[in-house]
Amino acid sequence: MDLIPAPKSFSWVPPPGYVPLDAETLLEAQPGTEGVARWLRATVGAATGLPLADGRCGDNRVVLSIASGLAPEGYRIVVDGYAHRIEGGSPAGVFWGAQTFRQLLGPEAFRRAPLTPGQEWDLPMVTIQDSPRFAWRGLMLDVSRHFLPKDDVLRYLDLLAAHKLNVFHFHLTDDQGWRIEIKRYPKLTEVGAWRSRTKYGHRASELWDETPHGGYYTQDDIREIVAYAAERHITVVPEIDIPGHSQAAIAAYPELGNTDVTNTAAGSADATPASVKGSARLSVWDNWGVSPNVLAPTDHTLRFYEGVFEELLDLFPSTFVHVGGDECPKGQWKASPAAQARIKELGLADEDELQSWFVRHFDTWLAERGRRLIGWDEILEGGLAPGAAVSSWRGYQGGVTAAEAGHDVVMCPQQQVYLDHRQDGGADEPMPIGYVRTLEDIYRFEPVPPSLPPEAAAHVLGTQANVWTEVMQDRSRVDYQVFPRLAAFAEVAWSALPAPAERDFEDFERRMTAHYARLDALGVDYRRPGGPLPWQKRPGVLGRPIEGAPPNV
Ligand code: ACM
Repeated sequence: MDLIPAPKSFSWVPPPGYVPLDAETLLEAQPGTEGVARWLRATVGAATGLPLADGRCGDNRVVLSIASGLAPEGYRIVVDGYAHRIEGGSPAGVFWGAQTFRQLLGPEAFRRAPLTPGQEWDLPMVTIQDSPRFAWRGLMLDVSRHFLPKDDVLRYLDLLAAHKLNVFHFHLTDDQGWRIEIKRYPKLTEVGAWRSRTKYGHRASELWDETPHGGYYTQDDIREIVAYAAERHITVVPEIDIPGHSQAAIAAYPELGNTDVTNTAAGSADATPASVKGSARLSVWDNWGVSPNVLAPTDHTLRFYEGVFEELLDLFPSTFVHVGGDECPKGQWKASPAAQARIKELGLADEDELQSWFVRHFDTWLAERGRRLIGWDEILEGGLAPGAAVSSWRGYQGGVTAAEAGHDVVMCPQQQVYLDHRQDGGADEPMPIGYVRTLEDIYRFEPVPPSLPPEAAAHVLGTQANVWTEVMQDRSRVDYQVFPRLAAFAEVAWSALPAPAERDFEDFERRMTAHYARLDALGVDYRRPGGPLPWQKRPGVLGRPIEGAPPNV
């Protein structure tokens, strides 16, 4: 049936045949599955025009239930001429089963209204048993470099659900924009959510979009996003990036910065653009790269961010809270007499330990509130806080080191699963940056290095694909970078695939034919196998076609 991601087992109930789904088909939601029934009526119901009325009698009926003996996210589908059963080890399992059920009905089941009212819908008579390889199957979306309006975020949650992905890592703050309302610090969004212009293309490009850019999610928007995700069994992991990638916050509240060196030559690393150097006050950054303007290691900064995280914890129920920790240039701390005094006062060896001190503070703070810290692999430098988990992005090594030391890990190496990187070496790719990573490369990505001993491998919670949006100015560009590669990634994260070299990419490509039809029905602007459509090209815009270069230089 060309299912993606591929299930563990699939068999036809002999002899192969179909049963109709029609206006009389009932839907029975046993306890715990009411949310899945809501989702089925709203999606499959809309696409088919069938009422799927609540009912408990007869064989022309879909029954949703929780069953013992299945893995928590596992499910079983049985269509055998009796009532059609979708059973799960938990409500999440039933939900993933419902996703497969939608695929069984064909690509038109992914539309929002029936193409042909009155059409008969056929359900194949099959038995499917399935469960995921990893508990953490994620997508990180950067909404700072380019703001993605709330409706587009909700749509991405639907796209994650359709691929059985269950973690949405929400990169909410960075140098180029602060995207979440914090009631006690209104300037974070009044000032920090807006920038005057945007570099069009890679940072070496001379092109600018002079339209002011910005936006943010109100706390009610966030509550809606979190609830919408929860209904789809997706956990939203918020990220507030500290102590680097913080220029938007410093633009809003200058006292968060290293005020004794900000805007001086000493405090400015080479990356500081002329527009920032020497200006009276920092603005939200209008260039790409890593800003040298980082948080000051003061008590004031700690109290300020505790305030931010307090509001965050009220909004996001997720166990894990991401504190960034990546790419914090140490130039300002080296130059700042106040930061140096702080290093001495705390008895620290150097600036790396100062970064570690920052992260440990929030590790303890979050643990006291029943949460767990996760950060990019730089949090390993200067010593990892106990209980902290690591997003391994600079390759596998950070994840390997952390897992061997007993820390939980999410594998997201940039060399493999940064979807901002171009997917073909052709000259037509829009704003091509980074490595060439094709659909097949993603399909052959292995999250767990084979050399990792089993005790350490058990600390690999799972994997996620990351989407940095410097060159993705709207949802259509995000779609182009993310799809179809997210379909391959979803199969890597969900299905028990063999070793990379043994994976049957041809079979995956064959199944993709059906999946492209699903993506068409969902309105996804994916990259066609033949390359960009004429309006998806960006002739003349500088990318970064240097094989092997790190992403942010
Ligand atoms: C990252 O790509 N800076 C985590």
